[in-house]
Amino acid sequence: MSSELPAFSPTKEFKYTESPNPGWNFGQGIETTAEGREWAEGEKAGWKIVDASKEDSSKLYSLLLTGIVPRPVAFVSTISPEGVENIAPFSWFNQVTFNPPVVSFSSAQGSQAAKDTVRNIRSGTGFTVNIISEPWVEQANACSTSAPPDVSEWPLSGLTKADSIHVKAPRVKESAFSMECELFQAIDIHDQTTGEVTATLVLGLIKYIHIRKDVINDRGTVDPGKLKPVARMGGLAYAKVSEGYILPRRPWAEVKDAIANN
Ligand SMILES: Cc1cc2nc3c(=O)[nH]c(=O)nc-3n(C[C@H](O)[C@H](O)[C@H](O)COP(=O)(O)O)c2cc1C
Repeated sequence: MSSELPAFSPTKEFKYTESPNPGWNFGQGIETTAEGREWAEGEKAGWKIVDASKEDSSKLYSLLLTGIVPRPVAFVSTISPEGVENIAPFSWFNQVTFNPPVVSFSSAQGSQAAKDTVRNIRSGTGFTVNIISEPWVEQANACSTSAPPDVSEWPLSGLTKADSIHVKAPRVKESAFSMECELFQAIDIHDQTTGEVTATLVLGLIKYIHIRKDVINDRGTVDPGKLKPVARMGGLAYAKVSEGYILPRRPWAEVKDAIANN
């Protein structure tokens, strides 16, 4: 299949463009642009309503995976109490808050036991969350294989371990943005009928952040064009993150005046 596809074009920079409708003003509906009118045309197809409590779970899984996009990806490195290292990607991932600095990811478990990642984290050895960059997404993706608990994914990935300073689990040397985390809380999610655990939401307290200096911009923050993060889409798809636009977040005092002068 891949031979029929155009070649991948590596991200060279994060290009900023105008926003989709730079002339937009408060109160204007979507009919003011051709794209907005075309979007509204889609309503003619009507809505399909899915009753989540009745939908087949594998269909629900695919639907949510394709509808809730794009997702960032946490590449989570852990270590078992016996010293077996493990690394796997998780896209049910995000920042929860910054005070205290907490990230979350969720691991599904179906009828099998919890995934190695969750078992290791519950043992209290700490973990690292590494942001994946485009040049090594294949290596990271390979770690999603269901290797048995006594087999580490590190050798098959071709990636390099780097020592953490606070937790036992290593970080990924190739990652330009890694967070050393302690377990803050693990919350089991249960099937509503059988009560069996179907997933675990892991909250991680960030203790240290390792940022490669070449991805830091003059404001001390991360330049997306240098970080080249990957985004997870539905099914087996990923997306590039190479173009963006800026929309201001106006304080209410300004919004109030703008509405009054409209
Ligand atoms: C990009 C990507 C994102 C994934 N996201 C998740 C996720 O959010 N939750 C999950 O349970 N599994 C997810 N998986 C599957 C896990 O990576 C896979 O089950 C892995 O084998 C778990 O490793 P472990 O058993 O060693 O912990 C994802 C796989 C890929 C390739």
